Amino acid sequence: MPRLAACSAVFALVVLVGYLYVTEKQPVSVMSAIMRAMEGDDWEIEDLLPKEIGRQSQSQREEDSDDSYHSSSDDDDEDALLRPSRKKLPSSSLWQKYSRVLNRASLCLCAAVLACLALGSAAVIYSYRSQPRPELHWWQRAVIYQIYPRSFQDSNGDGIGDLRGIERRVDYLEYLGVEAVWLSPIFKSPMKDFGYDVSDFTDIDPIFGTMADFDSLLKALHARDMKLILDFVPNHTSDQHHWFVWSSGSRDESNPYRDYYVWADGRDGGPPNNWVSVFGGPAWTYVASRDQWYLHQFLPEQPDLNFRCPDVRRHMENVLRFWLEKGVDGFRLDAVKHLVETADLSWHEPPNPGYVSDPEETLEQYGSLLHPCTTNLEETHAVIREWKALLDQYSKKGSYRFMITEVYDDDMRVLMTYNREADMTFNFNLLGLGSGAHAPGNHTRRLVESWMSNMTDGQWPNWVIGNHDNHRVATRVGPQYARAANMLLLLLPGTPFCYYGDEIGMEDARVSYNDTKDTFALNNPETYETKSRDPERTPMQWNRTENSGFTDAGVRPWLPLHDNYHRLNVQVYCLTFINVLFPQTQRAHPRSILHLFRALVELRKEPTFLYGTIRYFLSTPNIFAFSRTLRGRPTYLVAMNLGGKSETHSYYSWWDGWPREAAVVLTSDMDREGEMLDLKALTLRPGECVVVKWGRAWN
Ligand code: NOJ
Repeated sequence: MPRLAACSAVFALVVLVGYLYVTEKQPVSVMSAIMRAMEGDDWEIEDLLPKEIGRQSQSQREEDSDDSYHSSSDDDDEDALLRPSRKKLPSSSLWQKYSRVLNRASLCLCAAVLACLALGSAAVIYSYRSQPRPELHWWQRAVIYQIYPRSFQDSNGDGIGDLRGIERRVDYLEYLGVEAVWLSPIFKSPMKDFGYDVSDFTDIDPIFGTMADFDSLLKALHARDMKLILDFVPNHTSDQHHWFVWSSGSRDESNPYRDYYVWADGRDGGPPNNWVSVFGGPAWTYVASRDQWYLHQFLPEQPDLNFRCPDVRRHMENVLRFWLEKGVDGFRLDAVKHLVETADLSWHEPPNPGYVSDPEETLEQYGSLLHPCTTNLEETHAVIREWKALLDQYSKKGSYRFMITEVYDDDMRVLMTYNREADMTFNFNLLGLGSGAHAPGNHTRRLVESWMSNMTDGQWPNWVIGNHDNHRVATRVGPQYARAANMLLLLLPGTPFCYYGDEIGMEDARVSYNDTKDTFALNNPETYETKSRDPERTPMQWNRTENSGFTDAGVRPWLPLHDNYHRLNVQVYCLTFINVLFPQTQRAHPRSILHLFRALVELRKEPTFLYGTIRYFLSTPNIFAFSRTLRGRPTYLVAMNLGGKSETHSYYSWWDGWPREAAVVLTSDMDREGEMLDLKALTLRPGECVVVKWGRAWN
């Protein structure tokens, strides 16, 4: 639209200049004739026509007229005084022909100018009218905050976080501005995989509290207009679940649980096939009481449920109903791509030709095989669609019930299939975010673009920069880039997921092998450091007191705190010296990452960020810059330097209607707000990200 307006303006200008030029060359124009006629002058239009035509019409008129027309010489003389310009007209008939054509052309040109001006004004009016916007669901508007319950807040002094602890921190969640909370599993569990091994899907583990504590937390969140998302872990149960205890007892027809899990006879004295567990080593474990092997795609303590068994499907659906009836707002579905396996359990999975083996690994690694028998089966998709339909039934009754699936896969088409079936599937692209060397600018663009360009109509994007299974973003990209990473997370189109503590830039802690709790790491002692997920699960850093406010002083937290908690914590980022002296003033530390996060949450509420389109404006080896545009609203440019040295670039674009200067809305260091920046030569320091805005978009 700006281009169209610019073109109409240029065209109008050219036409106008042409018109002026023409009228300059031709002293008596149609317009002047009309004006004279209006002033009572008896000039006629024919006066401007070639002589023969003029004469003809004059004689015609004489024939037609009565005595009122006199052509005495006296009169002629008087007329001559009144009409001096007539004599100046060139007498050649060629010139008169020429001027007639010019007069017609100038009429047309006048019309064209008016049309262009009308088009231009229409464009302006159109662009200033806001675009009609679809109603967004709460999960599209919200920033979703992931809490790892063991590590957020302990309320009973046992060194492990719990539900009451979370409720105590609801003020903080409100202060952050997040509108939905996702809790990693809180159900009864022997905690081999810290809640991802469930022994009762409809009860709360005593470590986290009681059902009453859960109800109270849900109420507290709802009272503040926040939503609660639970982790649903359908692929497997704990080996302590009574279904498994019964199922492994016998394969007798009379055992109602005999088919609840994936059982198979061994082959040649070993497991039924070559399948490998995600956590390394064989995916089969032998049970003497059945003289059979059961499948576990994760730990042996996490037997896979058999989704070919109708009773299992019915039970799991009832689990969802149970929590929906309680009023939870949605679910994160764990490890769904593993739900169903091939019916024929004798099939082997093929070797992965791209796998490079690591001599340090003692267990066979999941990556050594491809997984056509155990992942992404059509039957898996069918189950997910059933669950989505169930949630939709509840959505119709009132508030929307949201569903997101967890799928790690390299194939975009596979991911997009999941993305269509649920409300979303997690977009883990930004877990690959880089900084410093290795062209992080171009790389980031690829990560963003690959998700955006693969989505089909009606799909909604989401972004993840950290979770309980991956090293913390501040450690992965380096603390210097953590602010820019948060800006990326919150300013891209779609729903951001924030892992607890990332809003203050928490880093991975070093956890020794002796302190290690993650079974995945304990099972791989030689490579435990690369496997362990404990470093990103350490307790939330609230303040600088002993145990950082996570648990009571003198208590040993379940995982050690990061030793930087004295200087990196919520309180230090909230409070200034003045607050400490006068706590009631509540004046905040103006430039902390925490305040940056809160400012981003606010900025994201701007319609341009919620509804606007994205354009990849510039990507260089170090820089990634994108714009967000919404018709009738200000345009924003977000530019970040993820490289190791300062870089100056021009972000000015006449063609796009972008100005030479624009006002700073926010910067990663929160130190340039309100300044006007020269977009023709904008310098960004390493790790710096700026957001500038201007005008209203035309389209
Ligand atoms: C994915 C979860 O995020 C992870 O923590 C867990 O170990 C596996 N699923 C198995 O449930």
